[in-house]
Amino acid sequence: MQSTKSHIDEQSMITPALVARFGRGAAEILDEVKLREKRAQLALVLELTRQRFERGENTSETVARLAADLHDLRISAGSAVWKHLIPIAQAHPVREFLLQDPFTKWSFEKPRGYSGDAGLLDIIYQHPAASEVVGAASELGAEIFAYTVQATTSVAARERREILAREVDAAAAISDKAEVLAVACGYLRESELSQSFRDGKLGRWVALDQDESSVDVVAAANPGTAIVPMVGNVSGLMRRNYDLGSFDLVYASGLYDYLPYAVAVRLTQRLVDMLKPGGAYLFANYSDEIRTDGYMETFMDWPLILRSDEDMRGIVNAAVDRNKVETEVFYGENRNIVYSRIRRKSA
Ligand SMILES: C[S@@+](CC[C@H](N)C(=O)[O-])C[C@H]1O[C@@H](n2cnc3c(N)ncnc32)[C@H](O)[C@@H]1O
Repeated sequence: MQSTKSHIDEQSMITPALVARFGRGAAEILDEVKLREKRAQLALVLELTRQRFERGENTSETVARLAADLHDLRISAGSAVWKHLIPIAQAHPVREFLLQDPFTKWSFEKPRGYSGDAGLLDIIYQHPAASEVVGAASELGAEIFAYTVQATTSVAARERREILAREVDAAAAISDKAEVLAVACGYLRESELSQSFRDGKLGRWVALDQDESSVDVVAAANPGTAIVPMVGNVSGLMRRNYDLGSFDLVYASGLYDYLPYAVAVRLTQRLVDMLKPGGAYLFANYSDEIRTDGYMETFMDWPLILRSDEDMRGIVNAAVDRNKVETEVFYGENRNIVYSRIRRKSA
C-alpha cells in the first residue's frame, strides 16, 4: 500500500522534494505565475536599459547594471522560466544598442555557425588579429566593448591562456622534447606565450580542433615548428579513431563548458589513458560563480555548462582510478574558471 500511495503522490502533487527527485526533467515543469512575474521584471530591466542608452548615461555602468540584473533574474527564475525569458530578451529593441559591441555581436551572430569559436576568443584575448573587427565598432559599441572585454569572465579567459602556456612550459621543464596535445585548440593562441615553444624545446604540440578553418590558421602561423595541426573531434578521440600515441601533457580549454557530464567523464577517461607515466591532463571550465551568465545567455546567445569545484571532482572521480593518479582542482584568480589537473603516477 505504501508504494501505491507514494506512486499516487508522485502523480498528483508537485512538491519541491518531488521536483528534486525528477532532477533535470523536473526543471522543465513551468510555473506560469512565476513566468508572468519574471517576464514583467525582465521587461522593466530591458526598458530601463534602453532608456539609459537613449539618455546617453555612462555606458559601462548601464551594461554592468544590465548584466547584474540578468544574473539575478536567471538565478531567481530557475531554469524552466529562464529558458522562456531568453528569446524575449533577445527580441527586445535594446539589442540594437548592445549588438554595436563587436564582442556581443560576434557571439550573437556566430559567423562560424557555433558558439565560442576561435575568432571570438581573439576578441576576448585582445589579439591583434581581432583589431579590425574591434576597430570598426561605433562609438557606443566601443564603450560597451570596454565593459565586456574587462568583464570578469574575459579577464579569466585571458588568465586561462597564460595558465595553459605555463603548463606547457612546466611539461617542457620536466621532459626533454615534451609531447603535448591541445584538444579543441582554436587558434592555439597560448603558443604565442610559451617560452619553451619559442626556444624549440618541445618534441611535438598536436593542435586538434573540429573546425578546419581554425586548424588552417594554426598551420599557416606555425610552419616548420613542433606544432602539428589536426582536424579532429571529441567523438573521434573517444572512439580511438586517431593514432596519436602518448603525451607528457594533454589539455582542453573552452571545451568542457559545452560537454554534458557523461561525455565529460568519457573524454576525461580517454585523455588520461593517453598520458605517459608522470604526464598531466589539465581541463578548464567556467565556474558557476560567474556573474555574466544572464548577459551571455541572452544578448551573446552563448549558453555554457557552468561547474563548481565539486562538479569537477565528480567528473574526475568518475573517470579515473585514484590509485593511479594524483588530482588537483583549483580556481583561477577571480574564480570565474575552475581547473582540474590529473597527473598519472610515474610508477
Ligand atoms: C572557446 S574555443 C577555445 C579555443 C582554445 N582552446 C582557447 O582556449 O582559446 C572552443 C573550441 O572548441 C572547439 N570544439 C568545440 N567542440 C568540439 C569538439 N566536439 N571536438 C573538437 N573541438 C571542438 C571549437 O571548434 C573551438 O575552436
